[in-house]
Formats: sequence, C-alpha cells, structure tokens
Amino acid sequence: MEYKAKVIAGLLTATCVFSIIALILSAVNVKDVFLPPGTKYGLVFDAGSTHTALYVYQWPADKENGTGIVSQVESCTVNGSGISSYADDPAGAGASLKPCLAKAMTIIPAEQQRQTPTYLGATAGMRLLREQNSTKAEQVFAEVTKAIREYPVDFRGAQILTGNEEGSFGWITVNYLLDTLIKFSFAGKWEHPQNTEVLGALDLGGASTQITFQPGVTIEDKNTSVLFRLYGTNYSLYTHSYLCYGQTQALKRLIAALHQQAQRSVRRGLPFGEEGDVVFTITLLPQAFSGFYYTFSFLNLTSQQSLSHVNATVWDFCNKNWSKLVETFPENKEHLHTYCVVGLYILTLLVDGYKFDEHTWSNIHFSQKAGNTDIGWTLGFMLNLTNMIPTEALELVKGQQPSLWAGAISFIVLAIVTGLVAILLQCFWKSK
Ligand SMILES: *[C@@H]1O[C@H](CO)[C@@H](O)[C@H](O)[C@H]1NC(C)=O
Ligand SMILES: *[C@@H]1O[C@H](CO)[C@@H](O)[C@H](O)[C@H]1NC(C)=O
Ligand SMILES: *[C@@H]1O[C@H](CO)[C@@H](O)[C@H](O)[C@H]1NC(C)=O
Ligand SMILES: *[C@@H]1O[C@H](CO)[C@@H](O)[C@H](O)[C@H]1NC(C)=O
Ligand SMILES: *[C@@H]1O[C@H](CO)[C@@H](O)[C@H](O)[C@H]1NC(C)=O
Ligand SMILES: *[C@@H]1O[C@H](CO)[C@@H](O)[C@H](O)[C@H]1NC(C)=O
Repeated sequence: MEYKAKVIAGLLTATCVFSIIALILSAVNVKDVFLPPGTKYGLVFDAGSTHTALYVYQWPADKENGTGIVSQVESCTVNGSGISSYADDPAGAGASLKPCLAKAMTIIPAEQQRQTPTYLGATAGMRLLREQNSTKAEQVFAEVTKAIREYPVDFRGAQILTGNEEGSFGWITVNYLLDTLIKFSFAGKWEHPQNTEVLGALDLGGASTQITFQPGVTIEDKNTSVLFRLYGTNYSLYTHSYLCYGQTQALKRLIAALHQQAQRSVRRGLPFGEEGDVVFTITLLPQAFSGFYYTFSFLNLTSQQSLSHVNATVWDFCNKNWSKLVETFPENKEHLHTYCVVGLYILTLLVDGYKFDEHTWSNIHFSQKAGNTDIGWTLGFMLNLTNMIPTEALELVKGQQPSLWAGAISFIVLAIVTGLVAILLQCFWKSK
C-alpha cells in the first residue's frame, strides 16, 4: 500500500515539475512579431484607341506614407482593335476582354479575387466616339461592364479618362519607375530620394498627345493643374493634352492636307508639291502603331542622339528607295511605310510644337518599358488609387525561438504521459 501511494505521488510530482518547466520555456524570451504584409492586387484595363491591354498589379498591404509600392505582375494584350472600334457591335467589345480576364484569374489567388479592385479607363478613341455619338459610347461601356461583372472581381467602373488625367498618371508612372518619387535605400528601406528632380513626361498616343511636368511656379489655371499626394509628398503639376494630334489622327489630317495640296497643285498647273512643302508619294493608311517609341527605336534614335543627328537620320530614311527598303527590312514591311512620316511628325511636334531645340533636346529620353513594366497611364492610376484603399494593419503574433518551443512541447508531452500513467495505475490498483 505504502509504496503504491509513493509511486502515485512521485508521478504526480513529476507531472507538476514538467508542467512548470513547459510553462517557463514557453514564457521565456517571447518576442512580439509582425507577420509579413499580405499582397494586394489590382486590375486596370487600358482601353486605348488602337488596342486594349489588361495590367495586373500588386503591392504589399502595408504602404509607405499612405501609398503602395506597386509592381506589375502581368500584362495581357486583348486581341483585335480598341473598344471604340466596336461602336456597331458593342457585345463584341465585351467578349474581346474575356480571354485576358480569364488569364488574370489564374494569377490572382482565388481567395483574393473578390477584393481585387478592377478599373477600365478609356482614352482618346472613346473620347472621340463619345463626341461623335454618345449613345454608341454608352452601349460599348454597358457591354464591357457586363463582361467584367461575369468575373469575381470588385469592378469599380469604366470611365473615359480626360487627356489631363492620362497625362498626369503617365507622369506618375515615369517618375515612379525612374525612382524619383521613392527609392529603396542602401539602409534597406523606402525613402524619399534627396537631390533628385522629378522628370517631365511627354506622351504620344493613338489620338492625343500629352505633356506633364512640375513647373517651378504655382499654376493659376485649374484646367491645367493637378495635385497629387504620393508617399507623403505633394506634387503640383502642369498638364495639357492635345486631342486629335496623336499619330493616327495626325496621319489622317496629313493625308487630307496632302490630298488638298495635290489638287491645288494640279489646278494651278504646278508640278506636285513645288511649294516647298513636304511631299510624300506613298499612300498612308492610319493603322495600329503606338507611341514615339516604335518609330524611333526602328530608326535607332532612342539613345539620346543630338537633334541634328535625329533630323538627318529621319530625312535620310525618307529619301531611301522604297524597294530597297523593303529588301533590307522584310520583317518590318507592315509598318515600314509609316516610319518616315511618323518620324517627321514627331520631329515637327517636338521642335515646332513643344519648342525643343538643339540644347533642350538632350533632355529627352525615349522609352517604352522600364524593367518589366510598361510605361503608360495605368501604373500611375493604380498607384494614386492605393491612397484610397485602406492599409491593412499588420498582424501581431507572439514569437518563440524554435528550440525553446520544441522544449516546451516535449515537457508538455512528458507531463501528460506521467499524469496519465498516474491515473491508470491508480485505477488499476483500486480495481484489484
Ligand atoms: C489571340 O488570338 C490568338 C489566335 O487567334 C490566340 O492564340 C490567343 O490565345 C489570343 N490571345 C488572347 C489574349 O485572347
Ligand atoms: C447614335 O447611335 C445610335 C445607336 O446606334 C443611333 O440610333 C443614332 O441614330 C446615332 N445618332 C447619331 C447622331 O448618329
Ligand atoms: C514619409 O514621410 C516622412 C515624413 O514626411 C519622410 O521623412 C519619409 O521620407 C517619407 N517616406 C517615404 C518613403 O517617402
Ligand atoms: C477651363 O475649362 C472650362 C470648361 O472646360 C472653360 O469654360 C474655361 O474657360 C477654362 N478656363 C481656362 C482658364 O482656360
Ligand atoms: C499636401 O496637400 C494636402 C491636401 O491634399 C494638405 O492637407 C497638406 O497640408 C499638404 N502638405 C504640404 C506639405 O504642403
Ligand atoms: C488620386 O487619388 C485620389 C484618392 O486617393 C483621388 O481623390 C484623386 O481624384 C485621384 N487623382 C486623380 C487625378 O484622379
């Protein structure tokens, strides 16, 4: 009897000791730890005049002074032409977006899709369609909205961006990608870059051109001024958009002008184009190409050559024999006939329109992508909107070193085992 009671008492004592050790091990050296921030996603459709593209963006849920560090995860180009070209077949516009939406759904984790803000921004093509027939523009938007609503995303609406919005979001994109708004420092954190000036942005789209920069002075005219608060800094910008001076529209006008001039010349009995004007004898068809970039990169003019070099290169190209050109660049045949006139148009726009000269020309950088990210208005749009999307508080947990944690678990197991043995022995001896 005596020894049985002693065994039980011993086992119970061991149980207590093991429990206390486990308690001490689990309480000692505990640290407060923040779980790494979750990732947020956003979708932006860029419904341009010549084509539509879907961009998938992500940013860590904790932000820097209220603005997210946004990066592009994926881009998807919608097959076919811009949504404004579906004016007579609005349902087609909606259907055209579906393959890209389906692709985005494979990228965004299923549990995040319902809270993924999704926007569609249309630019000059839809602006023109709205001017021509607003009913048709509304029908296209209704179909597009219907198509996007079929996917489990938080659709926040389709809208026509003003030229000024397009320009100023493009300005954000360029400056963000070139690290002038925020920079990852050697100290391993995000900082506002010191001694760095923000850059101006010039943008040539399918049907409009935009210029945006931060002027030294305050702008009185509310129509051309825009204010952004990004990463805790205020930016007051000047922005202006010229509708119809984009390439496609410019080419249409140019063709019309040439046509008139040709007729005039014929009427006056002069040989075609003897008035000193530029004459293009090839037929020009406005078609899908975008931006300063494609033409200038084809002509090898994107690495800050001097204005005189650019001028000479463009004219040299324009004077080349057409059949020789086709022989030399068979793979570029489709766009070859546009490079001369687009090159001249860009030169004219920058020199006569925006008044760049030999001196200021060196300040122009031509670019289309920075890293893996497309330069356009969409990234800037998403970035500005992250200001509005609430910050997620980081989850705070109690953290323990793995060895201490393993020790505590072992002692808990031991305590349970000795306790159970004590109970079993007690019952066993009692039943005897
Ligand atoms: C575009 O069309 C091609 C050929 O028709 C098809 O292979 C491709 O998957 C389509 N892409 C998208 C994004 O719809
Ligand atoms: C605009 O489009 C609608 C629908 O296609 C058509 O009924 C209407 O006549 C058009 N209006 C104009 C001014 O062209
Ligand atoms: C956030 O704001 C503070 C105070 O204005 C500033 O010192 C810091 O550089 C800002 N952080 C970033 C990432 O811009
Ligand atoms: C600003 O825009 C409005 C409406 O478009 C126009 O009536 C006004 O004249 C413009 N103001 C200036 C200073 O251009
Ligand atoms: C920045 O702009 C906000 C309003 O958008 C204003 O409340 C704030 O005072 C401004 N900060 C600075 C430093 O100008
Ligand atoms: C930028 O985002 C803010 C919300 O954070 C919004 O109020 C503002 O209108 C946006 N700016 C533009 C130009 O759309």
